[in-house]
Amino acid sequence: MDRLASLRTHMESLRQGHLLAGAEALSSQDRDALIGRIESIGWEAIPELVEHYVKCRPAAASGEIVPASCATVDPECVCDSVSLVDAGDLRERGEAMLLAGRVAAFTVAGGQGTRLGWQGPKGTFPASPVTGKPLFRLFAEQILAAQNRWGHTIRWYIMTSKANDAQTRSFFLDNRCFGLDRRQIMMFPQGMMPAFDAESGRVLLEGPAALAMSPDGHGGSYQALLRSGALDQMEGRGVEAISYFQVDNPLAPVLDPVFLGLHADSERSSGEFTSKMVPKCGPDEKVGVFALRGGVPGVVEYSDLSCEQAEAMDASGRLCFAAGNIAMHIISTEFARRVAVGGEDGLPWHRADKKVTWYDPASGETHAPTQPNAVKLERFVFDAMGIAKKPAILEVSREAEFAPIKNASGVDSAESSSQLQSDLYGGWLEQAGVTVPRRADGHVDAAIEISPLTAMSAEELCGQNLPAEIAPGSDFVC
Ligand code: UD1
Repeated sequence: MDRLASLRTHMESLRQGHLLAGAEALSSQDRDALIGRIESIGWEAIPELVEHYVKCRPAAASGEIVPASCATVDPECVCDSVSLVDAGDLRERGEAMLLAGRVAAFTVAGGQGTRLGWQGPKGTFPASPVTGKPLFRLFAEQILAAQNRWGHTIRWYIMTSKANDAQTRSFFLDNRCFGLDRRQIMMFPQGMMPAFDAESGRVLLEGPAALAMSPDGHGGSYQALLRSGALDQMEGRGVEAISYFQVDNPLAPVLDPVFLGLHADSERSSGEFTSKMVPKCGPDEKVGVFALRGGVPGVVEYSDLSCEQAEAMDASGRLCFAAGNIAMHIISTEFARRVAVGGEDGLPWHRADKKVTWYDPASGETHAPTQPNAVKLERFVFDAMGIAKKPAILEVSREAEFAPIKNASGVDSAESSSQLQSDLYGGWLEQAGVTVPRRADGHVDAAIEISPLTAMSAEELCGQNLPAEIAPGSDFVC
């Protein structure tokens, strides 16, 4: 009982003594499990987090918000569009990085996918318009295609979470890693954070022997990269740039030479943290926007913009807060390490008020609240922009790169993403001389799928054996 007694003293000193209130009544196995779970939490930071983020609203949410594109700090900060001449230069620079093996791919796939209503890990979701290839396969095919081009193995790092790690690993093994060598893929789970009672700041129990825990946000990826040894492995293999993208976008270019070139262009970027954006398609689009908050560059979520801010237009009729975040970043390994060990100067936390079912050890009852009762804390990867000396942002084509799958239906659903993918690939076929049916609204009237192994661009499709036309309403795969 020594271990229990000393932990109880520690928990009481932190006003978290309730966590062990029912410990004696547990079986020794459950008690050991509870003790282990409590000990695994980094308690040193918790009292301050409770004061700063649970008991009051965090100061980070305040400060004047200014569109990044109108920023006075550094007009080069947003490259509204890189001219073609420039893009050629940047492409060469990025290609040199790829040829030298200095780039690794990194997918964040730790989210629960609750909005999508999919039972398995989001990366297992069937995403391509005709054959329903899962998201993970689509990225694997891009990596295979890139390896063919650059002539060497490209490492792929995947951040999972406790809830989906085992399933994600089995999915890759069951599918023979989609043709990749399993040794080039490294998966690691992200960190977890306890949920706090919103009133008292007490950590909630999920059951007699379990704390209510949830993933610590994609900003936890810096620590997860470090803790898992992924950063060491990258640096040991000469990787300098991490190509970061979210699991929910089947069109995410896994390795983009122009993007990498911008990151490496010291006149425009400090080479620490570089991002992509697409202009928002309207004030209501639910994407974050690149902006300065209180003078610090970062992403402001759509829910943090007022209606006036979201709808404000500049003199040319363009939305002021237009630079939509599509969650693609190049992060240098050196910078990632610096952020990961940042301690006091590390990333801020974001508070989310949630309904969390909780177990009361005093009464032995479980409560399912109907109103938010708890605070969950998450970190966001893009908050590192505020630490980077000169973060650059590249505007890219929405049509070519952004078709996210987030919701079960409507906007950003599998259906809307399939249409966007068919529109893109239909456009490529047209450029290659194929007649493609289009509806009155301009969308392609067929389901079209082009594997990255067949072509990564319209140019690569030209000269291939293609039909003269696609029939309306038909499926086409190549
Ligand atoms: C996110 C961005 C938003 C951007 C949009 C583009 C945030 C807070 N907002 O919104 O600015 O415009 O994408 O599509 O990120 N994930 C983890 N671990 C976690 C939480 C999330 O790995 O703890 C991963 C998810 O698997 C997913 C991605 O991060 O791949 C996005 O997370 P999500 O919470 O769904 O953000 P969005 O609301 O889609």
